[in-house]
Amino acid sequence: MPPHEHMARPSLFDRIAAQHAERTRASLVRRLRAVEAVDGAHVTIDGKRLLNFASNDYLGLAQHPALRGALTETASQWGVGATAAQLLGGRREEHAALEESLARWTGRERALLFSDGWAANLGTIAALLDRDDLCVQDKLNHASLIDAAHLAGCRLKRYPHVDVDAARRQLESQPDAAAIVATDGIFSMDGDVAPLRALAALCREQRTTLMVDDAHGLGVLGADGAGSLAEATLTQEDAPILMATLGKALGTAGAFIAGSAALIDALVQNARTFVYATAMPPALAAAARAAVDVARFESWRRDRLVRLIAHFRGAAASRDLALLPSRTPIQPLVIGASDAALAIAATLEDAGFYVPAIRPPTVPEGKARLRITLTALHAESDIERLVDAIARAFA
Ligand SMILES: Cc1ncc(COP(=O)(O)O)c(C=O)c1O
Repeated sequence: MPPHEHMARPSLFDRIAAQHAERTRASLVRRLRAVEAVDGAHVTIDGKRLLNFASNDYLGLAQHPALRGALTETASQWGVGATAAQLLGGRREEHAALEESLARWTGRERALLFSDGWAANLGTIAALLDRDDLCVQDKLNHASLIDAAHLAGCRLKRYPHVDVDAARRQLESQPDAAAIVATDGIFSMDGDVAPLRALAALCREQRTTLMVDDAHGLGVLGADGAGSLAEATLTQEDAPILMATLGKALGTAGAFIAGSAALIDALVQNARTFVYATAMPPALAAAARAAVDVARFESWRRDRLVRLIAHFRGAAASRDLALLPSRTPIQPLVIGASDAALAIAATLEDAGFYVPAIRPPTVPEGKARLRITLTALHAESDIERLVDAIARAFA
């Protein structure tokens, strides 16, 4: 039958076209670009070799021979795919060994693998919180935590960035609701560290569970890289739900939740993104286990990062570049307008640096920025050249 001429039903494709036009007008179109080659801290894009300041491979492990070796050896033994969910024959000894290694490293009783950080956050929050329960979150938390609470259907309250008193008021407004306070460990777009000890104290006082997404802290913070909670000396009792990803400092992919045996057992029963998802490829689990060993025991990588961060901040200060107050490898330079941020990123690319502009809605309106990330693969001279180029781009 032909469509009704007078029907009022909106066309989704007309809507997409209108949204695209609006995005273009506001300099907010996102563009997919493929990297053609990677060597050390360099990437080749559109035929140009660029120093990469956008990678989350903080320790420089993604190309490490130990990880490559574990991946290929395990793939030649097991093949590639896990072929099924963990509960239905997809679990291999590599998964168990990686979970044990992650639990030991983070000082938690057990750990459970998920296919990625989104799945871990969503599966966990939806498994634990019902409709009348409360999820209190920092306004700048990663989208996967915020969306997890939306999709779980619980009550979501967001407090102003790192404002522990505001979090307290939100908990006090619903004293009878079971609750989770969820925060990033290191904030992904700002690079600052959450007030974890104050949040843990608040959670104790309010009989609430603290959940920390340490995607950017694992491998980076703490004496042996066990993350922001280890650095803050917070135990499993203080912070019962730890989520971290394997795709950043560990140079692989995937994520895990670490906590008590009771928590992990509950997730095995109830976390839908675990139960109904194909297990991680065993070769990837083996590569991630190799990465844990390198990250844990090669502390020179963290020491090097600390030196590079100080070097970058010193160089930026000497050129009057106003960085956000971050002591982590995420060093944002807020520019403001999206078109200005795009223009500076393009100028830097012409000068040989890959530092993409981060724009709304990833960051708040008017706060477009360069999100500069440092890794153990950078040299001091790379950093000096970048800072020079940024200063020239602003001139
Ligand atoms: C803080 C944070 N949490 C979760 C995620 C999602 O993890 P994944 O990439 O493994 O889905 C990311 C980014 O990727 C992140 O930055």
